[in-house]
Amino acid sequence: MAAGPTIHRSLIDSNIAVLTLDMPGKGANILSVDVLAEFEQQLSDLESDSDLIGLIIVSNKPGIFIAGADIREFAASLDLPRADVVSMCRRGQQLFGRLSATPFVTIAAIDGICVGGGAELAVWCDRRVMSNSPKTQFGFPEVKLGLFPGWGGTARAPRMIGLSNAVELITGGESVGAEQARELGLADDVAPPADLLDAAVRLVRQEAESRRFEADRQRWEKPLDISETELGFLGATASAMIRKETKGEYPAPELALETMLEAASVGLDEACELEADGMSTLFGSPINAALINLFFLTDRNKKDGGIEGDLEPTLDVKRVGVIGAGIMGAGITAANIKRGVKVVLTDASADSLSAGIRGALEEAAYNRSLRKADVERAIELAPQLNRGESDEEFSQCDVVIEAVVENAEVKRQIFKRIEGQLGDGAILASNTSTIPITQLARDLEHPDRFCGIHFFNPVRRMKLVEVIRGSETSDDTVASAVAYAKRLGKMPIVVNDGPGFLVNRLLLPYMNEALELLGDGATIKEIERAAKSFGMPMGPLTLYDVVGLDTALYAGGTMLQAFPDRIKASKILPALIKAGRLGQKSGAGFFSYRNPKGRGEPDPAVDDLLNPYLRAPAKDIQPAEIVDRLFMPMLLEATRALEDGIVRDVRDVDLGLVFGIGFPPFKGGLLHWADTIGAGEIAERLKALEELGPRVQPTDLLLEMAANDRKFYDLKTATGSKS
Ligand code: NAI
Repeated sequence: MAAGPTIHRSLIDSNIAVLTLDMPGKGANILSVDVLAEFEQQLSDLESDSDLIGLIIVSNKPGIFIAGADIREFAASLDLPRADVVSMCRRGQQLFGRLSATPFVTIAAIDGICVGGGAELAVWCDRRVMSNSPKTQFGFPEVKLGLFPGWGGTARAPRMIGLSNAVELITGGESVGAEQARELGLADDVAPPADLLDAAVRLVRQEAESRRFEADRQRWEKPLDISETELGFLGATASAMIRKETKGEYPAPELALETMLEAASVGLDEACELEADGMSTLFGSPINAALINLFFLTDRNKKDGGIEGDLEPTLDVKRVGVIGAGIMGAGITAANIKRGVKVVLTDASADSLSAGIRGALEEAAYNRSLRKADVERAIELAPQLNRGESDEEFSQCDVVIEAVVENAEVKRQIFKRIEGQLGDGAILASNTSTIPITQLARDLEHPDRFCGIHFFNPVRRMKLVEVIRGSETSDDTVASAVAYAKRLGKMPIVVNDGPGFLVNRLLLPYMNEALELLGDGATIKEIERAAKSFGMPMGPLTLYDVVGLDTALYAGGTMLQAFPDRIKASKILPALIKAGRLGQKSGAGFFSYRNPKGRGEPDPAVDDLLNPYLRAPAKDIQPAEIVDRLFMPMLLEATRALEDGIVRDVRDVDLGLVFGIGFPPFKGGLLHWADTIGAGEIAERLKALEELGPRVQPTDLLLEMAANDRKFYDLKTATGSKS
């Protein structure tokens, strides 16, 4: 419950009312039920004031106008019956609609973020003025939660900025800045933040004089002025674009499009009814619930310092050392210099170092619209990146990250050599993907200042970073590593030590099972299709090709050593490797990559290589069984990781898989997905796979949850966790 009112009313020159939003105790204004009730009361008071010539709505929060509706309230009412969702939307539309029926002009003066419900409130105002601050962002991100605007956004926006612009804004979910908003016709004026209120007052006076807003109000009540042919063309092109983006897995953008197309030929109120009806089919759907879950996972991650308690990290990272200029070293270097962190990069091979420096600069200076590196930007960034000639150069670094070959002995020798060079308080870290951190710390003098900082490949695209706590890593080291990863724009999760840590530990059984499926008679095509139909960005065999079959074999070896009961040593990988098929890097793996676009193509030579390893008789494995065989071992491994206390919170499993390997966001994460199925049902489905042996045997945790009908998300912290 709010500690006081959010909306404060004042007057300018006795005839212009100002409503200032300032939610007590919060960094942002959010349209909760309470705030909407206040707003309703304020409007009732103002509507009857015949002296007013205008109303201006502003925010007192720095950098934020309104951050949207209260998603916690949404989350608590996901099981509302459809009719109630319709009335919820209608109530919102009618409340905001009063802003376009007042006897005076209404203006939103927007400085900072104005999204979702806030953007809807703003489009019900007659006019909008926006500040030219880079923080000013206007948009309808509802599709990212599996919804679309339900308080009149889809009805009002097309009338103001044209159907095509509104479709792009609402179905894409991306925000625009003030200048783009002005070009679209969303902002009537743009002013520096300090002059914003003056600009709004000026506009009130002009409108009070010209009464132009009244003509607009009438126009916006009517159907859109657009021909059937134009509608048909827009519908076909937009729908094709949406399908390409969503692969048919996210219904909200498509339904938003349909709703706006249908609403084009009716009046505003009927358009609002159509909107409410459409929203009621999306609200509370499994995809909506999954995406809301993801919103909370990322929100929680933003606020999490990585340790229990309030310890402030001591390290302010300004300069970083990176050892190893290969795929990962170059990617990590680029991520740093892009964010203004200086890097000293070294490699045992001068050629690799030169290639790494070039690669890092190209990546950091990559410009999406040019589709290549921007030369000027590269020149600007070059002084941030130093070619390291000797170990002494690490003495100035706050963090030194090792990213050389995945070999414990090689890594340990480097740490031994480097540790003495580091300044007091500096952190030494490894980017190892599988080797336990405690093992690597064995010979260190300061194991408390050592941890894993595990980036994912490709670094530019994968947001996840695992910060791995070895048995002696200090809280300060963990908190500093977390703050540093956030500085790079990443999502760090803190995991306890163990083979494969969290993400690779869960990924390996899934990849391993793909090989077992091949052995049992499923085809490459069937396996890839099943994983993609589940929503994975690529199939597991393509993933082998991306990671590199040799690298995967090495990682698999570490897992096999650690968990011999449930990892099968397939002969398929060594056979392909022996044939020179290492994956994309060698031009061929499970697929061949000869075409110029680099897309994998089936290769009959692979069938010949697989033949000796196919078990007879071949089984007829249905798609649903392939899905279960791929994802159930991953889930079981997650329950074991929970039992072993690898994560601090069950939610980190889901965040890790969605942002580390692209587990389908519309499923909300592995454990969210499992919770929607239920532990009991999962145990049943595992029975059908029983003959596969220990790797599909339900774990104690799963059985206990099934017996007590518990959900993973109710397990507050991991069993056995240090924290
Ligand atoms: P890479 O083979 O592309 O690069 C390794 C680089 O280290 C090479 O340039 C090599 O010349 C250099 N190097 C080898 N020994 C060295 C030494 N003693 N001193 C200095 N430089 C030396 O390997 P990649 O893929 O970049 O992997 C590096 C590390 O990152 C490994 O531990 C790997 O497990 C981990 N990792 C790899 C991922 C991947 O998908 N490739 C993902 C996440 C972590």
